[in-house]
Parts: sequence; C-alpha cells; structure tokens
Amino acid sequence: MRRYVILARRFALALALGASPGAALLQAQTLPAGLAARLAACGACHGVDGNASLRDTPSLAGQPAVFLENQMVLIREGIREIALMQGALEGFTDTDITALARHYARQPLKAPAASRDAVLFAKGEKLAEQNRCGSCHLPNYAGREQMPRLAAQREDFLLHSMRQFASNQAVGRDTLMAASLHGLNDPDLVAIAHYLSRIGP
Ligand code: HEC
Ligand code: HEC
Repeated sequence: MRRYVILARRFALALALGASPGAALLQAQTLPAGLAARLAACGACHGVDGNASLRDTPSLAGQPAVFLENQMVLIREGIREIALMQGALEGFTDTDITALARHYARQPLKAPAASRDAVLFAKGEKLAEQNRCGSCHLPNYAGREQMPRLAAQREDFLLHSMRQFASNQAVGRDTLMAASLHGLNDPDLVAIAHYLSRIGP
C-alpha cells in the first residue's frame, strides 16, 4: 500500500514539474555517477540512447516519465514479471528510479522506419481509430502520464505486448488494456502494430 502512496505523491510531483518547465530543465541534466555506470547495463538491451535494437524489447526514449517510473517500480518489486530483467533494478531507490525515468523521457526517439505496407498501415489506422486507442494514448499516440507512447515504438514489441494483453499473459500490467483489445483478432493486432510503429515521433 505504502508504495502506491509514494507513487501517487510522485505523480503529483511530476505534474507540478510539468507545469513549470524551467524547474524541470534545471533538474538532473546529468545523472549521478553511480547511476550513469549502471545505465550501461540497461543499454545492452534498451539501447545506449534508449532506442532498442533487440527483438521484442521496448525503446524507452521519449516515453512519459510517469509511465517509466511506474513500470520500473512494478518491475523492481516483481509485480510486472520480466524474466530478462530479473535483478536488473535491484538496489535502485525510488529517487534513482525517478532520475532514470526523467533521463529516458528526455532522450530523442529515432524516426520510425520509412517502409510501409500501405494495406496493413491503412487497416491498422482504421482499427486504432475505431477502438479509440487515442482516448488514452492521445490522438497522436505520444502517450501521457501513466499511458505509454505507442507512436514509433518497435513493431515487434508492440505486437508482443498486445498479444500478452490479449491472452491475459501480461502479469502485473493494467487490466484496462486487455479490455481495450476485446474483439480484435491476431491479424488485427499485426496491422495495429505496423501502423503505430510507422507514425511519429
Ligand atoms: C537482458 C535485457 C534487458 C536488460 C539488461 C534490461 N531490460 Fe528493461 N526490458 C527488457 C525487455 C525484454 C522488456 C519488455 C518485456 C515484456 O514486456 O515482455 C523490458 C521492459 C522494460 C521497461 C518497460 C517499458 C515498456 O514500454 O513497457 C522499462 C521501463 C525497462 N525495461 C527499464 C530498464 C532499465 C532501467 C534497465 C537497466 C537498469 C533495464 N530495463 C535492463 C529487457 C531488458
Ligand atoms: C482506457 C485507457 C486505454 C485505452 C482505451 C487503450 N490503452 Fe493501451 N494502455 C493503457 C495503459 C494505462 C497502459 C499501460 C499498462 C501497464 O503497463 O500496466 C497501456 C499499454 C499499452 C501497450 C504497451 C506499451 C508499452 O510500452 O508497454 C500497448 C501496445 C497498448 N497499450 C496499445 C493499445 C491499443 C492498440 C489500444 C486500442 C486498441 C489501446 N492501447 C487502448 C491504457 C489504454
């Protein structure tokens, strides 16, 4: 329970900082030395600049800081289960996690792949609209607060995570998402992943 109180407080803090960009800019332009060293380990999977080049691995660059912060706490506590990340966040304090979240949120996300399958792209765009994905993830799919950015995320990771939600394998993740995919079949998810990965940032 206490954790969630901490999260709620941090959420309020993030909003307050968001309201004053000057203060946010002054914060943590550089990471403390100890954290910077540990960041190298994350880079092996998520990319040194937060742009992942490994299969089924999310890019962290340009994600809302609140989303990253919440997920890192859930992963550290073992609530969101990620076998590959076992122990990766061990020893990180809440303050470290806040600094890491801000760091990745500020990294520029790479432009999406230019190659598009016109039919798949159009199908994905229509399905995302019909299913109102933008009502939470924003109409440009840039995400906000606890809702992740989907635009320009890796196509394979988008598909992998939607399949996890759809089959109720997304342990420790928000059940709202499984509900949001109700009625969509696997080829629909393939089209949505193609579309979202090719737009923005
Ligand atoms: C061995 C590879 C690996 C390492 C090392 C690793 N991660 Fe991950 N991470 C993953 C994978 C794979 C996922 C997605 C798993 C899934 O959803 O099935 C993930 C998910 C995440 C997420 C959730 C993002 C999202 O969009 O859902 C965050 C945040 C994260 N990692 C942060 C970190 C940080 C910070 C470090 C370093 C302390 C780190 N990771 C180290 C592989 C790794
Ligand atoms: C009611 C709000 C809501 C709606 C509607 C919604 N989402 Fe989400 N979505 C979320 C939240 C919140 C999360 C973060 C869940 C978590 O990690 O626990 C999320 C996570 C995701 C993720 C995982 C991304 C990552 O980086 O880990 C994908 C992919 C996704 N949503 C796709 C979609 C698609 C496609 C639609 C429309 C069919 C949709 N969402 C509709 C709230 C919503």
